[in-house]
This record gives sequence, structure tokens and C-alpha cells, in this order.
Amino acid sequence: MPKMQLFSTLLHLLTLYLGGIHAQLDSYDVRESTIDGVHNALYGGLTTCRAVVETFIARIEAFNPALNAIITLNPNALSIADDKDYALAAGNGTGSLFCIPVLLKDNYDTTDMNTTGGCLDLAGSQPTVDAPVVTAFENAGAIILGKTNLHELALEGLSVSSLGGQTVNPYDFTRTPGGSSGGTGAAIAASFAVFGTGTDTVNSLRSPASANSLFSVRPTRGLISRTGIIPISYTQDAIGPIARNVEDLAVALTIMASVGYDPSDNVTALIPSSSIGKDYSAALYGGSLQGMRLGLIEGFFNRTASSETTPVNNALAAMVTALTAAGATVIPIDETIYNSTALSSAYDVQKLEFRQEMDAYLTRPSLHGTHPSTLNQLYSSGEFLVIPSQYSFVNTSLVSSTSNATYPSIKLGIQNLTTALENTFKSNTLDALIYPEQANLVVKIGSPSQIGRNGILAALTGSPVVTVPAGFSPNTTDAPIGVPIGMEILGMPWSEGKLLNIAKMVAEVKRVRKMPASTEMVVESQSLAQVPKIVPDTKDIPSLYPVGVLY
Ligand SMILES: *[C@@H]1O[C@H](CO)[C@@H](O)[C@H](O)[C@H]1NC(C)=O
Ligand SMILES: *[C@@H]1O[C@H](CO)[C@@H](O)[C@H](O)[C@H]1NC(C)=O
Ligand SMILES: *[C@@H]1O[C@H](CO)[C@@H](O)[C@H](O)[C@H]1NC(C)=O
Ligand SMILES: *[C@@H]1O[C@H](CO)[C@@H](O)[C@H](O)[C@H]1NC(C)=O
Ligand SMILES: *[C@@H]1O[C@H](CO)[C@@H](O)[C@H](O)[C@H]1NC(C)=O
Ligand SMILES: *[C@@H]1O[C@H](CO)[C@@H](O)[C@H](O)[C@H]1NC(C)=O
Ligand SMILES: *[C@@H]1O[C@H](CO)[C@@H](O)[C@H](O)[C@H]1NC(C)=O
Ligand SMILES: *[C@@H]1O[C@H](CO)[C@@H](O)[C@H](O)[C@H]1NC(C)=O
Ligand SMILES: *[C@@H]1O[C@H](CO)[C@@H](O)[C@H](O)[C@H]1NC(C)=O
Repeated sequence: MPKMQLFSTLLHLLTLYLGGIHAQLDSYDVRESTIDGVHNALYGGLTTCRAVVETFIARIEAFNPALNAIITLNPNALSIADDKDYALAAGNGTGSLFCIPVLLKDNYDTTDMNTTGGCLDLAGSQPTVDAPVVTAFENAGAIILGKTNLHELALEGLSVSSLGGQTVNPYDFTRTPGGSSGGTGAAIAASFAVFGTGTDTVNSLRSPASANSLFSVRPTRGLISRTGIIPISYTQDAIGPIARNVEDLAVALTIMASVGYDPSDNVTALIPSSSIGKDYSAALYGGSLQGMRLGLIEGFFNRTASSETTPVNNALAAMVTALTAAGATVIPIDETIYNSTALSSAYDVQKLEFRQEMDAYLTRPSLHGTHPSTLNQLYSSGEFLVIPSQYSFVNTSLVSSTSNATYPSIKLGIQNLTTALENTFKSNTLDALIYPEQANLVVKIGSPSQIGRNGILAALTGSPVVTVPAGFSPNTTDAPIGVPIGMEILGMPWSEGKLLNIAKMVAEVKRVRKMPASTEMVVESQSLAQVPKIVPDTKDIPSLYPVGVLY
């Protein structure tokens, strides 16, 4: 390693001397790039950090007009890349994310870009403190390349917003990318960055991973501080990474979880000592599917045959066959409690927590710029998008709070569900539960809601889930290589290491991920004088979702 460092240092000094920092090295092919791949190219002197960043930006310029996944690019991205090149030349190219371009869902507070939640009324909202996870990324050497579109305020799964418009699925331009972190899903599938981030109140890290043939981790409640993230629910909110492979997912999780105990988010006090400072990359190795016991939740399938459900059922059946062939035992779990529709209507507690959480976020002294100071002001502004199926949710949120008489019994119900889940694990001696993230293919653009998703179980119980690609639907003219299908792997609290280990083995017995045909073209890096401005395309918001109409 020191020898390689020395070599690359000399090489970089030479290139700086010969051509200035904008070295005329071959541009690095960033399609499907990995953290290790970028590092090998950089440390081997095959490219520069600036060229890596320019190549990702070139891809964004080429394909974002079709996908509409990006809200803003970081105006400082190129100068930060130059700083990295100088640091590398000085022998200081360190950090597990050194020069790794990362995209953040636009509900993560950043000081160099406004944080909008995709909401027009928050376009001028300017944090003056980075979210702790953003600081952790930067300290590890990452370059925050920009911010991605999301479903307005992360409240649904269609990934359409008043500020960012409709994000499009790169595998099928007639479909949504899942959501709410759909901008990150589409962007990472299209290799706009090495990995990205999302948030998850019910489904939002897992639905975009599933719909874009990606990996994500929703951590155990408390593992990663949610400070500086536009909130919805104290009980259900979680944040995490979305990546193209398990290895990068583990590195990203290690950095995000390194924030550790944060007095501003009191659930982080629950982190057990075995998870403090844990290196999730180390957890990937060893282990075997031989003898592993996986529970398959029958209630999380839709067995009505149709072009939207049969491909999901077939993909999961093929996955079960592959896992069984590798020595795992798959145990059917038939308990009627595992019914996502019933769980959502009984225990989803967002509507009682949203207003208080949001009001607290909007009134923090560190939030500058132009923004409303209450949720009610936001919804009187006329500058927001609520889809009709959410009218009653928003109506309730605007008047409700945790002092609502139903709150304690809902919380008790969640506790009961958590106990029932523990019993399912113990009575069947399970290592993990598996099921489709979504019982049907990700819905078409213009649909009334993102139906059929199964995220609620982990959202309520705070259990960790790693989502993996499980298959593709048959190809059609709209979906030249088919529509991606994803599987959730749910574990007991603080079992992220074990789940990542299982996910790595699953990805080995069944290699599923393919890059989308629509963005597979190589785009050459351009020498850029400055970061181009991205203007989100709002003209394609389906007329079903009127902006500024609440009732
Ligand atoms: C190396 O880079 C890190 C991170 O940018 C910085 O904190 C440190 O001071 C640098 N060390 C040297 C010797 O330049
Ligand atoms: C960010 O917010 C500031 C302060 O409200 C505003 O002046 C600026 O125009 C915003 N930036 C963008 C890109 O909208
Ligand atoms: C934890 O923080 C929440 C939200 O900020 C607050 O409502 C709650 O009372 C706190 N709980 C404890 C035990 O400190
Ligand atoms: C799941 O719950 C919903 C709503 O409570 C109910 O209509 C449906 O019949 C249940 N499904 C099954 C398979 O029991
Ligand atoms: C929302 O509240 C308004 C005003 O109280 C009411 O007119 C409307 O019917 C409500 N909509 C729903 C879907 O509850
Ligand atoms: C209390 O919450 C329920 C939903 O759980 C809602 O229907 C009701 O309007 C709320 N009441 C108040 C006073 O907030
Ligand atoms: C929780 O479980 C207890 C004991 O089984 C039961 O009495 C109670 O009704 C349950 N509460 C809810 C909200 O499900
Ligand atoms: C199950 O799939 C059928 C066929 O696509 C669909 O009509 C139905 O709404 C789905 N059921 C649920 C509960 O999502
Ligand atoms: C599906 O893919 C195959 C192989 O690339 C191709 O021959 C066929 O025409 C495609 N089918 C459709 C409906 O596009």
C-alpha cells in the first residue's frame, strides 16, 4: 500500500506538472462503478478525482432530461474534486469514501444546497448546519454531488413533487421509480453517482431499491441519527443508503452509523455496544446459506394472477428455489397478522406525529432562508403537491398530535406487533424473514398511489431490512429488459451485519442486477469550467396531481 501510494503520488505530481490539474487522462467508465473501482483507478493513476466527477456530471447531463431524478447539483463539486486531487498528490488520499460521488435525497440538510423536500414552498429553505450523516460522509472523503427528487415531503411512493416534477423509472419510462426516495433510485440505477441516500417512514428506502434493481438498508430504529432530516414520524422514520452492490452498501452504512449517539435524536441512545463503531464490511465475509432458516411471509403476496402480480410471484418462487438449492430451508409463515393493508390502517402513526415533528424542524434557529414556520403555513401557501388519496391523511395531520386519545393505544398495538414478530422468529428458529417489497410491479406514472408494498412491518417494529434485487418481469416494448422486482430480508434489531451477510450470499447465488438499457451508453467526460445548473422538469406532473390543491 505505501508503495502504491508513493507511485500514485509521483504520478499525480507529474500530471499536475505536465497538464495542470485538468489532466488529459482517459476518462474512467463510471457505469456500474463501485467504491473499490473508483479507488483503484484513482490510486493507480488511471484517472483524477476531477475526471471522475466530470464523468458523472456528463452522465447526468445526458440522461437526467429523460429521468428527471436530480433537483440540484452541488456548485462546489468540481472545486472539491480539485482539492481531492491536490490531497492525493500530497499523499493524503485517505478516507473510506475518498472522492466518492454521493447523491443525497433532498430531505437531508446541506449547507451548500437548499433542502426542499421537493416542495415549492421550501425552495428557499437554507440549512446552516449539515445533517450529522452528511458531515460523516464528508469526513470520510465523499463528494456530495447533488440532491435528488423525492415524493413531495416523502409522504407517498410515486416520486412526484411540486418542485421536482415526476421522476421516471429508467427501466420503463411509463412507470414510476418507486418512492419516496425515487430520485435516488433512478439516479443510482443510471450511474449518476456511486451510491445515494434515502429515508424510509414506511417503504421509502426499499421501494426505490426494488423498482431499480438496487440494494438498500433500512437500519434498526436508532442506529442512525435522523437529526437534520426533514421529519415525518418520530416512531417510524429511518434513513439509510441505496447502492448498486452489497459491498458499497456496507461501506455507506458503516459511515452513516458512525455518527453513533446523538442527543438531538434520543432513539440513538438505544444503540447496543456491539453496534457502536461497527465495520459492516467485515460482516460480509464468512457465513453460509447451508442450514439457514428463512421464513417466507405468505400474506405479503398478491396471489390474484395478472401481468402486474404474476412476475413478482414467479421471481420470488425462483429465488426460493435458488436459496433452497444452496442449502437454506424456507419456512412458510401463514400467520394472519402479516397483512400489510390491515397493519397500515391499524397502527400507522405518522398522521399523529407529522405536524409536531415538522413544526419543530421548521423553527430550528439553524434553518435560514425563506420557508414557512409551521406545517399549516406550508399547506396554506398553495405551493405543494398532495395526491388525492392523501387528502384525508393531510387533513388529519394538520389538526392532530401525539396528545390525541388514540395515540397510546396505537403505540401499544405497535408493541404487541413487535412481540408477535419476535415470537415468529423464536418459534420458527428463523435467521430472517423474506418477502417481496411490493406484491405487484412498481405502478405506472399517473397512478393514484403506490399500492401493494410491504414496508409497514419493519417501519412499525423498527426492524432492520436489507432489500436485494430478486428478478425482472418479462420484457415488453416499454421495458426492454423487464421491470425490476425486489425482495426484503428482515431481521431482529441490530442484525444489520447478519442481514448484509445474507444479502451478499443471495446476490451470489442469484445475480440479478442489470443496468437499464436506456442509460447504458458510455458518456465521455467533458472538461467543465463549472457545474451546470439543473432545472427540474415540472411540466410532466400528471394532471391527476394538482399543485396547491388540498381538498
Ligand atoms: C489529510 O486530509 C485530511 C482530510 O481532508 C485532513 O484533515 C488532514 O489534515 C490532511 N493531512 C495532511 C497531512 O495534510
Ligand atoms: C436557496 O435559498 C436562498 C435563500 O432563501 C435563495 O435566495 C436561493 O434562490 C435558493 N436557491 C435556489 C437554487 O433556489
Ligand atoms: C425523545 O424525543 C422526542 C422527540 O423529540 C420527545 O417527544 C420524547 O419525549 C423524548 N423521549 C425521551 C424519553 O426523552
Ligand atoms: C387483509 O386486511 C384487509 C383490510 O383489513 C382485508 O380486507 C383483507 O381481506 C385481509 N387479507 C387477508 C388475506 O386476510
Ligand atoms: C379536508 O378538510 C376540508 C376542510 O375541513 C374538508 O372540506 C374536506 O372534505 C376534507 N377532505 C377529506 C378528504 O377529508
Ligand atoms: C385523533 O386521531 C384520529 C386518527 O387516529 C383522527 O381521526 C381524529 O380526527 C384525531 N382527533 C384529533 C382531535 O386530533
Ligand atoms: C395488546 O395486547 C394486549 C395483551 O394481549 C391486549 O390486551 C391489547 O388489547 C392489545 N392492544 C392492541 C392495541 O392491540
Ligand atoms: C392484487 O392484484 C390485483 C391484480 O393486479 C389487483 O387488482 C388488486 O388490487 C391487488 N390487491 C391488493 C390488495 O393490492
Ligand atoms: C424481448 O427481448 C428479446 C431479446 O432481446 C427480443 O427479441 C424481443 O423482441 C423482446 N420483446 C419485446 C416485446 O420487446
